[in-house]
Amino acid sequence: MTAPEPRTVYLADYRPFSHLIDRVELTFRLAPQATRVAARLHLRPNPDCRGHHVLRLDGEDLRLISARIDGHAVDVTPDDTGLTIPAALLPDAPFVLETEVEIAPEGNTALEGLYMSRGMYCTQCEAEGFRKITFYPDRPDVMARFHVRIESDLPVLLSNGNPVAHGPGWAEWDDPWPKPAYLFALVAGDLVAHRDSFTTASGRKVDLAIWVRPGDLDRCAYAMDSLIRSMRWDEQVYGREYDLDVFNIVAVDDFNMGAMENKGLNIFNSKLVLASPETATDDDYARIEAVIAHEYFHNWTGNRITCRDWFQLCLKEGLTVYRDQQFSGDMRSHAVKRIEDVLALRARQFREDQGPLAHPVRPESFIEINNFYTATVYEKGAEIIGMLKTLVGDDGYRKSLDLYFDRHDGEAATIEDWLKVFEDATGRDLAQFKRWYSEAGTPRLSVSDDWQDGTYTLTFTQTNPPTPGQPEKAPKVLPIAVGLLNPNGDEVVPTTVLEMTETTQSFRFEGLAAKPVPSILRGFSTPVVLDRASSPAERAFLLAHDTDPFNRWEAGRALAKDMLSAMVTDGAPPAADWLEALARLAFDDTLDPAFRALALRLPSEDDMAQTLHAAGHVPDPDAIHAARRAAGDALAARLAPRLPGLIAALTDAGPFHADAAAAGRRALRGAALHLITRTDGGAAARAAFAAAGNMTETTAALSALLDIGQGEAELAAFETKWRHDRLVMDKWFMLQTLLAAPDRTAATVERLTRHPDFDWKNPNRFRAVIGALSANHAGFHHASGAGYRLLADWLLTLDPKNPQTAARMSTAFETWPRYDGIRQALVRVELDRILSTPGLSRDLTEMAGRMLAAGG
Ligand code: TRP
Ligand code: ZN
Repeated sequence: MTAPEPRTVYLADYRPFSHLIDRVELTFRLAPQATRVAARLHLRPNPDCRGHHVLRLDGEDLRLISARIDGHAVDVTPDDTGLTIPAALLPDAPFVLETEVEIAPEGNTALEGLYMSRGMYCTQCEAEGFRKITFYPDRPDVMARFHVRIESDLPVLLSNGNPVAHGPGWAEWDDPWPKPAYLFALVAGDLVAHRDSFTTASGRKVDLAIWVRPGDLDRCAYAMDSLIRSMRWDEQVYGREYDLDVFNIVAVDDFNMGAMENKGLNIFNSKLVLASPETATDDDYARIEAVIAHEYFHNWTGNRITCRDWFQLCLKEGLTVYRDQQFSGDMRSHAVKRIEDVLALRARQFREDQGPLAHPVRPESFIEINNFYTATVYEKGAEIIGMLKTLVGDDGYRKSLDLYFDRHDGEAATIEDWLKVFEDATGRDLAQFKRWYSEAGTPRLSVSDDWQDGTYTLTFTQTNPPTPGQPEKAPKVLPIAVGLLNPNGDEVVPTTVLEMTETTQSFRFEGLAAKPVPSILRGFSTPVVLDRASSPAERAFLLAHDTDPFNRWEAGRALAKDMLSAMVTDGAPPAADWLEALARLAFDDTLDPAFRALALRLPSEDDMAQTLHAAGHVPDPDAIHAARRAAGDALAARLAPRLPGLIAALTDAGPFHADAAAAGRRALRGAALHLITRTDGGAAARAAFAAAGNMTETTAALSALLDIGQGEAELAAFETKWRHDRLVMDKWFMLQTLLAAPDRTAATVERLTRHPDFDWKNPNRFRAVIGALSANHAGFHHASGAGYRLLADWLLTLDPKNPQTAARMSTAFETWPRYDGIRQALVRVELDRILSTPGLSRDLTEMAGRMLAAGG
């Protein structure tokens, strides 16, 4: 096989498709090695494209059996990427194209198109998987009504839309809503349903079903409950009702990503559906709730209104992430949710934006679109929506969204359409704001203040650093939420949004009695790196008094980061003011336990590497690891006397509740257990492991033991108990890798990859071990280069089978320009080795090439 020429696709080259498709009829005769797909496309020339055109259809790995136009056989031969039907063979009027192809789902290890997962047929078509099913214009702006017939002996046969008829060995589905091919889905298997129903605001009853393997039926209740709450919330908050008679969710074990919003038939990675207290942690519950909501919300933001082309991906993803974040905040705690989202934003998106893979939220070119399902498109895309809402206000936002749904329902829209809706609804000019979509990179914001005669002045300066392909940048619109406290800790100026549009800008506050303490960037109102030198005393003051919960947490975070930085760069000891501040907070029962748990969590090693790098240092992974452990030990010693009491007070008797309050208590209890384990030789954690009544407690105790190099017996007991449960065993694999000591990380991973249950073709298992390897910062960046080598070996093993997941995992290397010359040289060897491998996928070629380009 010769490597395909990597072709770059440009936003600027967009042209509408030559034809429109009114209706698609598909018939599947399922067989593992030879599935037949018969397609009838009802086409007509697109009136917007003048002239008589050829018809170019996408198609990959399809064996063409026959092709007919209006019933007459046509003699056409596909090439590697599709099928061209010459203009001479095409009527200049509506016509029907019939094709039949053969495909082999059993051999499809890429998990894109129609594939098999443990005996079950399923599909993944986003972004460009439909072309592996049949010849079709596989682009989101071609929207058509689909009618699907499935023939198979398997008992459950599902597709999009409403069920219309079924008999022994067949079923037919009809989707009344025009949709692009990427939203097509088909499932066939020996499945059972957890059922419920939902009555919409206008009184239509919708049958809900979550389809799983027979043994998993008792783990669907939380996902179903989340779905029903999502449906109600979208009606109440966005006025969006569901629009089919049925809504089906299917859980599959082999899946490249989290989940997929196919119309009326969402397909999920089973880890984001199945939960019971014994098998799922509180974090799992929270993610299930969020992803169920996310995929459901796509029904309007993604499906009813879709994207014109894949450059507009953030149109659906940024908005839908924003909506799922709002939902989780409403269901749980807005403060805690915002802190968690900002932690994730910094860990994944800032990291991406400050490295060689930085790209605009709306990219302008790509080689492989699968490589652009990124934290930037998703999470920074969501931050942009949040900024828009801050700028136009709640009412302006609601008006704009109403207009968006009204104006673009049934369309494939663009970012220009999206912004125009806000301009028309609110009268605001968003020309400068649009730079957030076109310019990559995390802006840096520095602040200075001045106090004179009762006037307090804040002066901000923004810098927009260069990113690959974008050396120069103009200032952005930054909504900076600010509040002022007086020296007693009372709020004298409540939260005010300052709109910064210039490179340097001052804002004045008059009539104050004393010099205030500023609380800047409340709620993290714009995604920037804030540079503000501040004293430990002021940070401790805000940690104690800020009325904005996000900034309260942020003050503690800054205190910890300042301290860890000084420990790494100057060998400073753990700071007394940090220890005292955390000691007050840890035992302050007036505060939400979930908030206290977050405040006790030290910045991650990767976060410290990012922070040190941004401050102009070359981060030393060993020194960061040592400093973080020393800080943790000091905190443990400081808090130790009162930790047993805290743990006892947080121990809930009675049945398990998954709600945020109960989860927050378990989180704080886990944090306390983690700390006490640093001081008691593991006694408390061993007891907690033995007494654990749910998976949250089990993993908290096991992690605490692994963190001090113990837990052998507990690992063995865990394995014996859960050997037959794939999702639970993923945790067993992951924790050992994440918590291995730096000197032993590579050896631990090698041992785990020899375990009989290390099924590397399963993406969850691959991520549990190889993904965790790169998440173990000091282990991955070990100066021997063993971590780098091991990752590259496994990427090269996976790439021929599953290029999408291999490329995604390769981003572990994206931070390499941060580190010292020795480590850089070691990474360069691995990236060179990857790139020079014959037959490397387009996916991994693009990623390794972009990362290597950063080396100059
Ligand atoms: N649209 C999905 C979501 O965010 C993402 C997704 C699921 C996906 N599976 C994929 C993207 C496979 C690319 C390839 O909800
Ligand atoms: Zn999505």
